[in-house]
Amino acid sequence: MIHDRIWYFPKICMQANDYCFPGWNHPETFAREGEICVEYCSGNGAWVAAKAEQNRHQNWLAVELKFERTRKIWSKIKNLQLDNLMVLCGEGYDATRRYFPDESVDAVYVNFPDPWPKTKHAKHRIIQPRFVVEVRRILKPGGLLTMVTDDHNYSKIMVEVPRGCKGFASVYPEPYYVQEYPDYGNSYFEDLWREKGKNIYYHAFRKT
Ligand SMILES: C[S@@+](CC[C@H](N)C(=O)[O-])C[C@H]1O[C@@H](n2cnc3c(N)ncnc32)[C@H](O)[C@@H]1O
Repeated sequence: MIHDRIWYFPKICMQANDYCFPGWNHPETFAREGEICVEYCSGNGAWVAAKAEQNRHQNWLAVELKFERTRKIWSKIKNLQLDNLMVLCGEGYDATRRYFPDESVDAVYVNFPDPWPKTKHAKHRIIQPRFVVEVRRILKPGGLLTMVTDDHNYSKIMVEVPRGCKGFASVYPEPYYVQEYPDYGNSYFEDLWREKGKNIYYHAFRKT
């Protein structure tokens, strides 16, 4: 399942139960101690590759559904020689539920996930109670969940869902987001939406 910094988790594997994740410090994964940071919905990986390059002491996992975008992240791993970045090609919730160990992750980021604005498509959103419960399970005590969107309605969900999940406290007071976050880093979609003059909503919740 893991080869050359890519952890491949295609849909067909979701029925198979025989793979056992060896742990974050195993030679197949990061092969060293260090904080574990996970970004879901990484797209082309611009944000996560920059974070991994700036924070070589931390271990970073990018989670991306699409193979073509996974390939772009893999290129960044190779070009920037990032031995502290891996990419998981697969669906974030399923991979987390199946493989990520309890209380093993320091920080989780979800940057500009697809908003799926139509009610009939809401089931496709990554931010929903079952996902946030899993994030809480994998975070170490005091670990941080950060979610960023340009979509005001999705921002409301990014507030409601963790506030409704026992064991998370918002870092920001009401309205539970900020619209400026200096030095947060830049992703493809952040740059795109800022250029178009859209508001950006940053949410952060700490595991209590
Ligand atoms: C709007 S793009 C944002 C990409 C990047 N974070 C950025 O800000 O430029 C959303 C990305 O999430 C990926 N994605 C959507 N649902 C996902 C899921 N359940 N698990 C993993 N990746 C997912 C999509 O393939 C897409 O690349």
